[in-house]
Amino acid sequence: MKIHIVKDNIEGAELGYSIIKEALENKSLNVFGLATGSTPISFYDRLTASDLDFTDVVSVNLDEYIGIGADHDQSYHYFMNEHLFAKKPFKVNHLPNGLETDAQKECDRYDAIIASNPIDIQILGIGENGHIGFNEPGASFDSTTEKVSLTESTIQANSRNFDSIDDVPRFAYSMGIKSIMSAKKIILFAYGEKKADAIKGMIEDTPTTDLPASALQNHQDVIVIVDEAAASKLTK
Ligand code: GLP
Repeated sequence: MKIHIVKDNIEGAELGYSIIKEALENKSLNVFGLATGSTPISFYDRLTASDLDFTDVVSVNLDEYIGIGADHDQSYHYFMNEHLFAKKPFKVNHLPNGLETDAQKECDRYDAIIASNPIDIQILGIGENGHIGFNEPGASFDSTTEKVSLTESTIQANSRNFDSIDDVPRFAYSMGIKSIMSAKKIILFAYGEKKADAIKGMIEDTPTTDLPASALQNHQDVIVIVDEAAASKLTK
């Protein structure tokens, strides 16, 4: 893993932008894996402020809540439209369909999309408990797209975006860890001291399914962009 400690999320976004710009220039970004959460917003703002052209690029998002549709303002469809797609058109945008009630059908559909669109660069944030996408602690490193139950800590953390904690969906569709690991390059952003334990475990501790992001130690090309607070528990 290559670790970059940046001053703040603006500097982090600039670094992320420069990697994407170079990949587009080299024609090595055809499929772009995208993430939601507050963390990548500054990066998406930087992309939308740029003249980068994504009209030949396919996007594949990590996950979506189950039970809310694209027009719900907390759905990941809505988030992506707001922060990126409405301003930067892509060739096509793929996200799991949170309104599909047949989980097997939806997971198979999404795995087929990932199989036919191998991800060149995957953007990641990280949950306070070390989750990536919605792969919660305990998720197998061999997982592909699954219907997952969100943990109490994730429901709690994500409730800040909903009117009440009771409104937070309890389930989601998430790309699996194996699918994330199949991306050629991964860029993970993390800011703030709430992420410090997860970042320490991800980088320095022995990989364990208790901390899903630690799987990334087994990937050849991971760029970690963190601020000082998120890096504050690193010892090496
Ligand atoms: C959600 C998303 C993750 C994201 C995490 C952290 O659970 N499924 O992809 O990394 O939240 O969110 P934030 O960046 O807001 O801290």
